[in-house]
Amino acid sequence: MPIKIAIFASGSGSNAENLANHFRGHHEIQVSKILTNNPKAFVLNRAQQLNIPSQVFAKEEFRSNAFSQGLYEEGVDFIVLAGFLWLVPPHLIATYPNRIINIHPALLPKYGGKGMYGQHVHEAVISQGEHESGITIHLVNEKFDDGRVLFQAKCTVETRDTVASLAKKIHQLEYEHFPQVVENYISQLDREIESRVEV
Ligand code: GAR
Repeated sequence: MPIKIAIFASGSGSNAENLANHFRGHHEIQVSKILTNNPKAFVLNRAQQLNIPSQVFAKEEFRSNAFSQGLYEEGVDFIVLAGFLWLVPPHLIATYPNRIINIHPALLPKYGGKGMYGQHVHEAVISQGEHESGITIHLVNEKFDDGRVLFQAKCTVETRDTVASLAKKIHQLEYEHFPQVVENYISQLDREIESRVEV
């Protein structure tokens, strides 16, 4: 049985696509579904192109127990947030303890929290005159951008950088590292669980 990942994205979904391409034909991990809160999100077009089932959900549905139960019953093992903007409700975290991974486009704990997403993060980094920024891949808990950090990578912020040029550098770091960090984390956790079962 493959280990199934569901990817959540709210917008363009370029990271979702990169993850899906990374895991296509993978020997143990499969992207089984792409979900979004935004019916107009471009990630839905990408899901169709990639031939991956997609699902759009509304806020009430997302907050209901039936939502996490549904994912669990479909056999989803891990959730990866790739540009997903809503706070994850407690029951989903309880259903997937240490199994929800997020990517944030800054070096947490700086520039995280409510309202800090996408361009807003890069605007804040530039307006504070930071000389470096980067990406943080972390586990998800009940607060925005707060769970255990799995990985960080840095890039320089030049005085000539704009929001667009910084966003491009950050996306490059994300494409380079996100799939591998997700793969390593999932494989390691899976091996730990298997070795505990064998004992
Ligand atoms: C990515 O840069 C991701 O780190 C960021 O949104 C962008 C989505 O791009 N996530 C957040 O800001 C979460 N707080 P994409 O839709 O092209 O993958």
